[in-house]
Amino acid sequence: MCGIVGYVGRQQAAPILLDGLSKLEYRGYDSAGICVHGPMGLEAMKTKGRLQALRDKTDDGKKLPGVIGIGHTRWATHGAPSDQNSHPHLSDDGVIAVVHNGIIENYMELKEMLISKGCHFHSDTDTEVISNLIALHYREHHDLLEAVRQAIRRLEGSYALGILCREFPRQMIAVKKDSPLIFGFGDGEYFIASDVPAILKHTRKVAYLEDGDMAVFTANSVSFYNALGEPVRRTPETITWELSAAERGGFPHFMLKEIYDQPNVLRDTIHPRIQNNHVVLDEIPFSPSVLKKIRRIYIVACGSSYYVGCVAKYILEKSCKIPTEPIVASEFRYADPILDENTLCLFISQSGETADTLAALREAKAQKAKTLAIVNVVGSAIAKAADQVLYTWAGPEIAVATTKAYSTQLATIYLITLYLAEVLETMAQEEIQAACKALYGLPEQIQACLSQERITQIQYYASTLFDHRDAFFIGRNLDSATCLEGSLKLKEIAYIHSEAYAAGELKHGPISLIEPGTLVLAIATVAPLFEKTMANIKEVKARGAHVLCLTTEDLEQEAKKTADHVITVPKIHPLLQPSLNVIPLQTFSYYTALARGCDVDQPRNLAKSVTVE
Ligand code: G6P
Repeated sequence: MCGIVGYVGRQQAAPILLDGLSKLEYRGYDSAGICVHGPMGLEAMKTKGRLQALRDKTDDGKKLPGVIGIGHTRWATHGAPSDQNSHPHLSDDGVIAVVHNGIIENYMELKEMLISKGCHFHSDTDTEVISNLIALHYREHHDLLEAVRQAIRRLEGSYALGILCREFPRQMIAVKKDSPLIFGFGDGEYFIASDVPAILKHTRKVAYLEDGDMAVFTANSVSFYNALGEPVRRTPETITWELSAAERGGFPHFMLKEIYDQPNVLRDTIHPRIQNNHVVLDEIPFSPSVLKKIRRIYIVACGSSYYVGCVAKYILEKSCKIPTEPIVASEFRYADPILDENTLCLFISQSGETADTLAALREAKAQKAKTLAIVNVVGSAIAKAADQVLYTWAGPEIAVATTKAYSTQLATIYLITLYLAEVLETMAQEEIQAACKALYGLPEQIQACLSQERITQIQYYASTLFDHRDAFFIGRNLDSATCLEGSLKLKEIAYIHSEAYAAGELKHGPISLIEPGTLVLAIATVAPLFEKTMANIKEVKARGAHVLCLTTEDLEQEAKKTADHVITVPKIHPLLQPSLNVIPLQTFSYYTALARGCDVDQPRNLAKSVTVE
């Protein structure tokens, strides 16, 4: 979703802003703009479409000279993508310029009030009320800081803001509430951004602003204030990862690079947490006596993170004997969930900023549930808000369609499961040790799934099956949960209408959609249910379906007797099998999307980080 960059220093701002915005493209956007305070005052240029259009319009920034500026990539919420609706938004009197990530819920009411005071609006956005509200208060008492404070007091909703004022050519103000914003400390220069990659070229010293924070800064000084307006210190952390981690590194797409990153990031996530075939999770803050009282687990998340929760249900219930319910965050928050201090709520989020997941977390905390977050982005809102956080060490994930974050989330679920099973004594010691050993070896097995031979086979199937209009994914038990993710991937990046069904449920409706030639991807890796899934394959084949079956190496010959085509993954400990199964589904979607000429890394209408409800 929207991305923000701001710069104050001695260098030309516009090229820095354009470069920073290019590092935020992954968030998803449909227009972009920058505003620089230069010799002519506040000058903004903005345009619908890709960043290249803005580069062209500004002559790579040369048309906007000046050493202080703000930039924005917009993902349309209020008003269609257009030049007019693009940020930055100047106040009607031209005094204030604002970039905004978030949603102002009471903007209509504020807009009416401003119109009644003679203000003219030039866009359909909620953001334009912010610049005008600040300008209104600024006209009243000519104190910019106070004007910003008064304005934000009237705002309901979420906002990360970069603010410039025509009358303060050296100063910027940034404000954060419920939308991500980081502050970068350079040498004689400061930065704001929605995410680290936007400024990493210039500084590694970054503070994750707290909700309610305001930063007032010039090239030489910065003051931070908290929500109460009190001066506070915000000490920078040092980013240890390299910018190359957020670059394509020779791969044609981020998604492919991130698929191949998986063995390494799984090692980073798993290995430090397994010692002598036992899981060591210092991050879990709850004592064994507290954990023994847990009666129910909710797994709350959105998108692929939710589908990790669907796999987790089978694993946690089987291994820890605790009823576990995965639920999408947007439903959980309004469903009056039954929570108490004996409920454990796991919140899974790559970005750590997903609005629904964050709101659900707050709801769970308010109802005294124990909360544990599984998050990839360090210092993000969900990481900060939960009782405790377990980080997935996937590194920056740039492609909109998640791959390595999904895999590390799943690995973290295994770690939690085996840790709990040991505390609760729901698995025998030998079983736990065997599972830990297998988990330690998971990265190697993932590597095997990415062998050239296997990839070539997937490329072949993608090149022959890519022009199907519809697809069905079927499987049983853990396989049915993996189907959900495989199906989502195909929808997201290849724009193929795709449905995931528990194989046994097909005959209760969806089988009516099977016609000669319909593509069915069947996953059959849960050995005790293999024959049952084969029977379901026969049912769809009898109606003309074309079936590609994914199974384990040992079952390949058996599967070939029933399915049209078979692809395999190595057989691993049954609890961990979903981690291997998802790899060919990722690569199949990737190569299918390529064959269909889709924009793999930035699929239409989708955003990486969904910071609106
Ligand atoms: C978006 C992304 C998905 C992601 C979902 C949840 O829809 O495109 O890849 O799974 O948000 O995001 P989160 O950051 O909370 O995991």
